[in-house]
Amino acid sequence: MSQNRGSWGSNFGFLMAAIGSAVGLGNIWGFPYKMGASGGFTFLVVYLFLSIFVGYVIMVSELAMGRRAGLGVAGSYQALTEQKGTGAKILSKFLGFLAMFAPFMIMTFYSVLGAYCIEYLVLNLSNLFSGTVNPLSGSEYFASMLTNQVSAVGFTVLFMVICLIIVKGGIKGGIEKFSNIAMPALAIMLVVVIVRSLTLPGASEGLKFMFVPGYALEAGLIDEAPSFMKILATAGGQMFFSLSLAMGAMITYGSYLSKQENLMKNSAIIVIADTCIALMAGLAVIPAAIALGGENAALGGPSLLFVTLQNVFLSMGAAGPIFGVLFYLLVLIAAITSAISLMEVLTTYIIDRSHAKGKAVSRTKVSTFVFVAILAASMVVALDGLGSNGLPKPMGFVWLDFMDLWSEGIAMPLGALLMSLLLGWCVGPDVIHKEITAGGHKFPMYTLYKFLLRFVVPVVMLLVLVGQLNDFFKLNWF
Ligand code: PHE
Repeated sequence: MSQNRGSWGSNFGFLMAAIGSAVGLGNIWGFPYKMGASGGFTFLVVYLFLSIFVGYVIMVSELAMGRRAGLGVAGSYQALTEQKGTGAKILSKFLGFLAMFAPFMIMTFYSVLGAYCIEYLVLNLSNLFSGTVNPLSGSEYFASMLTNQVSAVGFTVLFMVICLIIVKGGIKGGIEKFSNIAMPALAIMLVVVIVRSLTLPGASEGLKFMFVPGYALEAGLIDEAPSFMKILATAGGQMFFSLSLAMGAMITYGSYLSKQENLMKNSAIIVIADTCIALMAGLAVIPAAIALGGENAALGGPSLLFVTLQNVFLSMGAAGPIFGVLFYLLVLIAAITSAISLMEVLTTYIIDRSHAKGKAVSRTKVSTFVFVAILAASMVVALDGLGSNGLPKPMGFVWLDFMDLWSEGIAMPLGALLMSLLLGWCVGPDVIHKEITAGGHKFPMYTLYKFLLRFVVPVVMLLVLVGQLNDFFKLNWF
């Protein structure tokens, strides 16, 4: 079945790659802001609960599904329903499709955001080495960058070429090799930036924003206290995106794991590491943004990264560009290690499909094809510049949000909901139990797992789906 697919060189390498996939822009600009704006400590508690009782359950299931079949997403879903009726087979086909559609759509904008990170890295490098600091403020630079379509396209190509070089190198020789160096480097840079951020005068305000319930409202940083349903939906959506679930990434990475590895333990490490890095990212960016970002500084989304934080670096004097370089480099690494996992979902799928047909294809050819397809679609996002350049707005959205709606908004929660129903009710969780215990490992609390998979995950995912639609279409349901 799995002829010459390759595999991870070590469990550590797998962990670095999987944590690399999980740790991305979602951790850096999503988590800290959402936590602060959605109830601080309350949000954190909800988030932790959801990570353990929903995220962990899906993580274990996805890794097990991938390893069980030794195939990418489509093959893994198909293998689940081999003995089942037509209905289940159609559902698994649809799930396989969703789990490839979502990464493709995410990559159309992730690549452009990665390009922006490179542009800011270059800006800070030139501030550092030229001796003259670019006089533009964060917002001026951001506006000029968004309207410069030539550079947006050029840097998107550059970001994608970097990803292509890594994916082309294969699981062990490309993705694992890069993650083994990049992830520890990211952690070190993050600690340095945290130390600087927390020692700025006024940093404690940032800590209060993040951790003290009600502070964001009191300090006028948000207009309205979120309802509990909203907190639940926001935390659920964030947790899912951040853990790279329902996107085929963990199924694909799991398919290259050896039967000896302990999936329960690996899943726990990935969930804990991703959550810790999200909290650390909060400590790195929020105190600095509140201390030095100026009044009305944006604390989330692209503006946090490209306006507020650039202003922070500009106001730090001579040391500013050094921290700017460190920071944008670490964000770039986070973006690359996530992007390569998304590219790998599609690359593995095509390679496995050719193998199944008895044809041998070269990884170089396949990954180049994936590269070209994503790049072509990402052009519209690059040219749009977050709506700055007068392109038509599909359904009233800027192109980045439009792509995000289909992936993070619909395909991801819908995929996770249907997956838990398929696994919990139709195929049955026993296949996961078998796979987890295959290497002689135990499956502690299996009854709890079954209960969560069948009853809790579907309800939470339905809520997340509704919450995403509520957010994207500003429906104000709750
Ligand atoms: N987890 C990544 C982030 O937090 C995004 C991502 C989602 C990457 C799905 C791969 C798969 O930004």
